[in-house]
Amino acid sequence: MIPVLVTGAGGFIGHHLVKYLVGRGYWVRGADLKLPEYEPTAAHEFLQCDLRLHDACQRASQGMEQVYHLAADMGGIGFISGSHAEITLNNTLISAHMAKAAADNRVKRFLFSSSACVYPMHLQTSPDVTPLSEDVAWPAQPEEGYGLEKIYMEKLCQYMTEDWGLSTRVVRFHNVYGPLGTYDGGREKAPAAICRKVALCPENGTIEVWGDGLQTRSFMYIDDCVEGLYRLMQSDYTAPLNLGTDEMISINDLVDVAAAVAGKRIAKRHDVSKPQGVRGRNSDNALIRQVLGWEPATLIRTGLEPTYRWIEAELAAGRGGRLPDAAE
Ligand code: NAD
Ligand code: GDD
Repeated sequence: MIPVLVTGAGGFIGHHLVKYLVGRGYWVRGADLKLPEYEPTAAHEFLQCDLRLHDACQRASQGMEQVYHLAADMGGIGFISGSHAEITLNNTLISAHMAKAAADNRVKRFLFSSSACVYPMHLQTSPDVTPLSEDVAWPAQPEEGYGLEKIYMEKLCQYMTEDWGLSTRVVRFHNVYGPLGTYDGGREKAPAAICRKVALCPENGTIEVWGDGLQTRSFMYIDDCVEGLYRLMQSDYTAPLNLGTDEMISINDLVDVAAAVAGKRIAKRHDVSKPQGVRGRNSDNALIRQVLGWEPATLIRTGLEPTYRWIEAELAAGRGGRLPDAAE
């Protein structure tokens, strides 16, 4: 069995990835500050540890052939725009120590999870945004804090490959959603937040939507995300690669899709004082099609159905108490 480390294995993507890799016959060690919140881990071994510390990174990567590095202080736009100092510092410590430990322990492949937040802000000022291709990331103007650390780490991976021969992979995720993703407490992203608000809203009620709702995004379903991670790790491609869908949708339309899944009539109250991030964002998938011969294909209408049902069931079971901003 090939030994693999998944950092951030207590989180949304990491937990799904652990299940996927175990299903494929890998021996998986998970590492995280916390265990997965919503169901037990499938990992063969789970280290509960603080990966900001170099020793913990050394222990976690010892004996591993591959590292999927997903651990980060992370959340939706409300969270990542809330504390630039803490997020930047935490993620810098986690990622730099993890990459160095992977190099010291001579792992064969190290995958870093970057983000669409590396793309220049000035290219994302219109809802009708030109899809972002990998080559436009430089000259850089990433999102403050969180995006800055991601683009710095992309470069560090490149340098470690060039100077030390560490074989790296870099994935730029576009907004990922699905069952078992955070839906309350302040770190939730738009798909889960909107599903939660719709689920809590009575028929003909009103929910709060951040911004005017005309801002656009593309959203990737979790099954596509783990499949893409695995395919990229198997490939020989070492430069940053988008992993997202190119199905762009406005936030207003996202709310309408969630309402349709719920079978409810729902009105929107827009709050432009809330965090909104970039005005428009979409993935250009030409390169991933060329490199992997594959791209994420789950449509938002398809992926939001199981996501909504899971969040609805969570709320019906009395969980989901952390509601800074529920339905109105
Ligand atoms: P998540 O918050 O669910 O998971 C991240 C995990 O990292 C959490 O379980 C957290 O406890 C852990 N972590 C944080 N600090 C730690 C520390 N000091 N030591 C050990 N573990 C620590 O987030 P996710 O959605 O699963 O994201 C996974 C990765 O993908 C992150 O690197 C994130 O930046 C990146 N990403 C995600 C998205 C998305 O839409 N989900 C988009 C772009 C990039
Ligand atoms: N979170 C949230 N909650 N967003 C809402 C809500 C709500 O109730 N209502 C409307 N929105 C709007 C936000 O104002 C924003 O314009 C859009 O939905 C998307 O918000 P998020 O999903 O929170 O974040 P993002 O797409 O700006 O950035 C996320 O994706 C990046 C990768 O593409 C973040 O998770 C980043 O950390 C990530 O790197």
